[in-house]
Amino acid sequence: MRVVILGSGRGSNAEAILAAQQAGRLGRARVVQIFSDRPEAGILALGARFGVPAAFVDPAPFKTKLEGEGEARFIAAVSAAKPDLVVLAGFMRVLKPGFLNAFAGKIINLHPSLLPSFPGLDAIGQAYRRGVKVTGCTVHAVTTEVDGGPILDQAAVRVEPGDTLESLTARIHAAEHALLPAVIARLSER
Ligand code: GAR
Repeated sequence: MRVVILGSGRGSNAEAILAAQQAGRLGRARVVQIFSDRPEAGILALGARFGVPAAFVDPAPFKTKLEGEGEARFIAAVSAAKPDLVVLAGFMRVLKPGFLNAFAGKIINLHPSLLPSFPGLDAIGQAYRRGVKVTGCTVHAVTTEVDGGPILDQAAVRVEPGDTLESLTARIHAAEHALLPAVIARLSER
């Protein structure tokens, strides 16, 4: 199963996927390409470290969504990698029907809350400020509804007395780093 990872940030989840692959814990999945919409994103440095091609793709003209020329560039770049699965690992743009239809049924997203609670931006902060006692992370299939597609798996994280936003964030990230590679491995064995 050929996997393409899209990310905008530091890439700790992409790193967890690549480390799982190195350790033989990614089933029949193999990461073939990493793309980012931000040229300075840490995720791009993983390419050299793990021997996977990694490249910036210009997402212009929009700031928070992928549409128009930027969408066309992403469709072309991702198509060229012939993915069986497209993994959004901290890709902070809303995907539109053009991209979704080009890879229909093949796109999964990681979100740092127990969806359907706290969709959208700053999900960990939203949950923390709301005072929930259990939060976590979700991997779901991507549809036109933002953070709304069918849920593939979740991991729960308890909010402990004395947790700060930082300590809670760290535990949610640790849960994500276990969950996302496990879901990819499972999908690859289907
Ligand atoms: C992760 O916590 C992921 O759940 C979140 O971005 C972070 C990326 O971290 N995604 C979203 O909030 C999507 N709405 P990383 O770059 O270290 O993998």
